[in-house]
Amino acid sequence: MDFIKNMDWGKANRMSKLFRADGKCFYLPIDHGYFLGPTRNLEDPAKTIAPLTQYTDALFVTRGVLRSAIDPVTMPLPVILRVSGGASVIGDLTDEQITTATDDIVRINATAVGVSIFIGSEHETQTVGNLAKLVNELEPLGIPVMAVTAVGKELEKRDARFLALAGRIFAEMGASVVKTYWCENFEKVVEGCPVPVVIAGGPKTETIREVFDFVHDGMERGAAGLNLGRNVWQNEHPPAVARALEAIIHEGATPAEADEMYNTIKNEQPLPVA
Ligand code: 5RP
Repeated sequence: MDFIKNMDWGKANRMSKLFRADGKCFYLPIDHGYFLGPTRNLEDPAKTIAPLTQYTDALFVTRGVLRSAIDPVTMPLPVILRVSGGASVIGDLTDEQITTATDDIVRINATAVGVSIFIGSEHETQTVGNLAKLVNELEPLGIPVMAVTAVGKELEKRDARFLALAGRIFAEMGASVVKTYWCENFEKVVEGCPVPVVIAGGPKTETIREVFDFVHDGMERGAAGLNLGRNVWQNEHPPAVARALEAIIHEGATPAEADEMYNTIKNEQPLPVA
């Protein structure tokens, strides 16, 4: 993992928990309620994640859900704490602030934090400022900051030119990991960004094969990994999706192999009869 060279011991240790020895990662986000409110299949977060932690490498979550729903003793994954928010889906999603104080980030023993930045929005400067403030506070403590490329409701913004612009700005501000959307010519986003780039998901797709295709394409074009929520735990067979994605990310499986794996596992684990 070249990207942890020259880091101080604590930060290198935290970064090494966020990536497997192959330098790749698969994060499981369950932070959606912070702007979406109740989200289907996240009603009982502990139940949602229990069958998925064996395939994934870190949990992306707010302090509220962490403290109310996740057991600190048996939780097997490192935590990436979602520390920005303040806007909801019925308002201006771009108007975010930092929501979690540094001493609480430390008290929670977060391995990293995540913050959304809305490039090109009315709140561009404010949200880039949130990222810079977190890096200023957390870098001396050895806590990495993951910058989340956010587009709010403007999903059409997700092209290589915009995503490369955003990712480079985040790295320049000191982010240790950049989360961004998959797009055509994804290598342009990766090439312009000197820190690991992780692919985000988005709303549930029509078929799971679409997910396997874009994840595989992104990995082939240089992504370090994946942060995928709804397309995993809103699927009817979350463990089958998670295992198939793990195979793409960590074992170099093709989309066809992942699809076959998904179908095999799904048929071994039929839905419970009502
Ligand atoms: C919300 C986030 C989520 O972590 C991200 O959207 C991933 O979840 P999904 O795959 O469901 O989109 O950062 O801003």
